[in-house]
Amino acid sequence: LASVVESQQFDRPMLEELFEVAREMERITEDGSECKILAGKVMGTLFYEPSTRTRLSFETAMCRLGGKVVSTENAREFSSVAKGETLEDTIRTLEQYVDVVVLRHFQAGSARIAADAASVPLISAGDGPGQHPTQALLDIYTIQKEIGRVDDTKVALVGDLANGRTARSLAYILSKFRNVKLYFVAPDVARINEDIKEHLTECGCEWEEVDNLQSVASEVDVLYQTRIQKERYGDRPEDYEKAQGKFIVDEDLMRLMKQDAVVMHPLPRVGEITPQVDADPRAAYFRQAKNGLYIRMALLATLLKGK
Ligand code: CP
Repeated sequence: LASVVESQQFDRPMLEELFEVAREMERITEDGSECKILAGKVMGTLFYEPSTRTRLSFETAMCRLGGKVVSTENAREFSSVAKGETLEDTIRTLEQYVDVVVLRHFQAGSARIAADAASVPLISAGDGPGQHPTQALLDIYTIQKEIGRVDDTKVALVGDLANGRTARSLAYILSKFRNVKLYFVAPDVARINEDIKEHLTECGCEWEEVDNLQSVASEVDVLYQTRIQKERYGDRPEDYEKAQGKFIVDEDLMRLMKQDAVVMHPLPRVGEITPQVDADPRAAYFRQAKNGLYIRMALLATLLKGK
């Protein structure tokens, strides 16, 4: 692996190897063991869009492996991007200082442009409505841990499927597994894009678009809820209003779900899962966020140290 740009870069053997390292990272973190395998390495985080989980879990991962971090959040305002510097020049400069770059950008396709410009590994932390590959890795890791398998599962992707990069990356990576059925549950103004449907059909992966969350709640093993992304509706506020609040996971919906199903969400949430659901053992979203640390530790160790 030179860089991480999209989830479909990962095949099953690569995922199995990464998850084996992630389980070891989980073990040493829980033990409190000291690990210095990335001592002497520096990671640069360059974020053009806000983040809590991705940036802080990457930075924590690097610290826990003995490496160091340099960071600019809000790069549009607090880096020389504000003076008009291009993404490519920013990357070519940052790589003079660091061993790996973690980039979040507002434009789909920017991760590929940055990776092509970089001579050090570049990890996408999300590129606009494009992809969020490391989120998909931690999502698959979470499904495996919570359900015990990824093959032979039914998964509902819910919410803003037109703009949601986490749902896109997850759909692409789920197509690598056997006998997975995907339900897309989205408001009319935020339906899943054609490229995903075409890809799934080509892979022989079963999928269906439905407009009633209640009708699939009792079927699925994983209900993957997502936020309606207000920031992507700048010139269409009326579409945002139509979409927001259409599909809510609440205690009534949880009563319809199987006892061994899980609710996931990449977070942040803004009302689409009610706080009362948090106490339900099937609410896996904060455990999911924690898995992000182990997956990112595993990814950094693999990229910077090899197997
Ligand atoms: N899941 C996720 O990408 O969260 P942040 O935007 O907080 O990083």
